[in-house]
Amino acid sequence: MKNPVRVAVTGAAGQISYSLLFRIASGDMLGKDQPVILQLLEITPAMDALRGVVMELEDCAFPLLAGTVISDKPEEAFADADYALLVGARPRGPGMERKDLLEANAAIFSVQGKALNAVASRQVKVLVVGNPANTNALIAQRNAPDLDPRNFTAMTRLDHNRALAQLAGKTGAATTDIRQMIIWGNHSATQYPDISQASVKGDAAAGLVPREWYETDFIPTVQQRGAAIIKARGASSAASAASSAIDHIRDWALGTPDGDWVSMAVPSDGSYGIEEGLIYSFPVTCKNGDYSIVQGLEIDAFSRQRMTVTEQELREERDGVAHLLP
Ligand code: NAI
Repeated sequence: MKNPVRVAVTGAAGQISYSLLFRIASGDMLGKDQPVILQLLEITPAMDALRGVVMELEDCAFPLLAGTVISDKPEEAFADADYALLVGARPRGPGMERKDLLEANAAIFSVQGKALNAVASRQVKVLVVGNPANTNALIAQRNAPDLDPRNFTAMTRLDHNRALAQLAGKTGAATTDIRQMIIWGNHSATQYPDISQASVKGDAAAGLVPREWYETDFIPTVQQRGAAIIKARGASSAASAASSAIDHIRDWALGTPDGDWVSMAVPSDGSYGIEEGLIYSFPVTCKNGDYSIVQGLEIDAFSRQRMTVTEQELREERDGVAHLLP
């Protein structure tokens, strides 16, 4: 058996974590031969609820769960962490403007970035799920100057999986028949779900579905799926978000399949003309625990326009918290 790895999860008593922690502990994320120590962070008022979650984790008797730590102090929860899944965030309250939301989260993610910088493994892989995820990842990254900036990522895998499901439904295929889907940009309603490179059972997806469906149905459905779930369920997507977080870390750690890629929001290196440094969702392949942005894709005018809109939103979010960025 391998040595255990340390997986820190914030917002550990919340809805997403209620699904996520059990999947990590059962080996869905890092493999059925990889023991894990869960290091769970919550705010002080949620510590009792978190103790209840830990009782349930114990009661599953997971063979791979080698230990559990709970804390309301980031320096304890992130100590020697190999992976950090930053799920906890401040939700938008009544009357709260977007700017207030950005600032409230900037406060949380700057503290957590500093704590990761101080105590996490030097190779820690960070996934930010809590919204606004891309900009929260940027804030954590900028507060962790001693860690590799490339190791700060945000989750657009749920959007990617939603896009696969919509295209599979329309074409009568299985999601596993689809290759090379892309989500570009921000995890928000400006994201651009792009099927121009995708194939279904080897045939170009764009040739299999009406253009009108793609533009007026598929794109807005994927962009607004989160809101549709809140409307239907009365709560935001939780199990599907957890599942996508598992997919994101699993593929980053263990690699993407040959002939396919996934969408991850990662620090832009200027690829496709996207401003360097923004945490922007690109198609990436992963190998040996590292990712690379897929290069050389042709971008037509329709795509370019949408990629720029979502880039612009990320610039505005960054500028909105500029005074909090070191
Ligand atoms: P939730 O409200 O059920 O749980 C969040 C938990 O975070 C709460 O238990 C809260 O006490 C905790 N928390 C708040 N501040 C904290 C801090 N400073 N340190 C540690 N814990 C803290 O929310 P849920 O449903 O689990 O969602 C979590 C976040 O994920 C939200 O921001 C949501 O918008 C986002 N989300 C992102 C998705 C994505 O695709 N990127 C998809 C779905 C949700």
